[in-house]
Amino acid sequence: MRDALRWPSWRLTRRQLCDLEMLACGGFAPLATFLGQEDHASVCESMRLIDGSLWPMPVTLDVSTETIKAVEASGSLALRDAEGVMVAAIHVTQAWQPDLRAEASAVFATTDERHPGVEYLLRRTNPWYVTGRLEVLQPFSHHDFPDLCHTPASLRAEFATRGWTRVVAFNTRNPMHRAHLELTLRGAAQADAHLLVHPVVGETQPGDVDRYTRVRCYQALMPSYPTGLAMLSLLPLAMRMAGPREALWHAVIRKNYGVTHVIVGRDPAGPRAIPGRAPFYRPTEAKQLLEQHEDEVGVKVISFSQMVYVPATASYEHEDSVATGTARQQISGTELRRRLAAGDDLPEWFTPRAVAPELRRRFPPRSERGFGIVLTGLSGAGKS
Ligand code: ADX
Repeated sequence: MRDALRWPSWRLTRRQLCDLEMLACGGFAPLATFLGQEDHASVCESMRLIDGSLWPMPVTLDVSTETIKAVEASGSLALRDAEGVMVAAIHVTQAWQPDLRAEASAVFATTDERHPGVEYLLRRTNPWYVTGRLEVLQPFSHHDFPDLCHTPASLRAEFATRGWTRVVAFNTRNPMHRAHLELTLRGAAQADAHLLVHPVVGETQPGDVDRYTRVRCYQALMPSYPTGLAMLSLLPLAMRMAGPREALWHAVIRKNYGVTHVIVGRDPAGPRAIPGRAPFYRPTEAKQLLEQHEDEVGVKVISFSQMVYVPATASYEHEDSVATGTARQQISGTELRRRLAAGDDLPEWFTPRAVAPELRRRFPPRSERGFGIVLTGLSGAGKS
């Protein structure tokens, strides 16, 4: 590490930084570094590392051609965060140019660039993948919501302190709606387990509600659960929106964090709908894939089909169990974003009472919005 000043540097992207944190904290066990070429090919083809371990998602470090040229001489690469602080080193043993279209087909089952994971792969990925021994300089820490950040080891220890032996995890990348609340309450009851609300706060689909607002929504919602049933912890994962494969990956990751069950609803980790295009994944595809692997992963799947609000009974029901002709209601993500932008009503059957003020604070009605103008320039440039 004394030679680090002479090594070329790579400024990590936000996704790479999330992946590095997950590798460093043990969230990506059994991975200890970014995938090498043989593992990458095997993961794409069969969702397994070459040693046979289940690992459904490529976790790779992509860098530029200039970086590869520079690393040929040094052998090591200093990995830096957005501020230029060196957070890790990778002692490169292999570099190759991947076939990104083939990776897209294998992982996302499409090369349609309207899929955000495909768009990232084909438009925003550097041409070389590298691997080698990873040296992380110090444990990652977060200044925002530090009490809600856990490593797999610290979360397992927390469960042990609380005496929790059965824990069901709930993944979300949205502010929690009433349907989410129903899934978590029913999921905990079905699994006869405590509940881990485990939202992804690394990277999610572009256009999602920002993580600060989301975390405040989760914090506001937690007192709605029966005392002692639930806890909130934030997962610094970068989602790929790969639907079924991704849901399976989440289960493998959550096993590392010590949970015994996972909740899976309709079309988990799927990209939001594109008008006029069929959904990328079937709603029950993820459930089937997880159920095939639940023994191997070591977590049980608690699955739910599409849930809708039935005004006649003022309750959420599985859509397939609602009698034909019975009125049902739901609000799409697009409609929610429209309502938030327009300052329109958020009905209580959709947004829990505790969550609405947090969303309103972030998305005030037009009449309460303002704007600031910042004038910058050198001294004497004429700003005043
Ligand atoms: S996700 O990308 O994290 O899957 P989201 O936060 O919307 O997106 O969903 C969290 C979980 O709730 C997923 O398992 C999803 O399948 C499930 N879910 C969301 N809404 C519903 C619904 N109306 N009915 C059934 N499951 C749902």
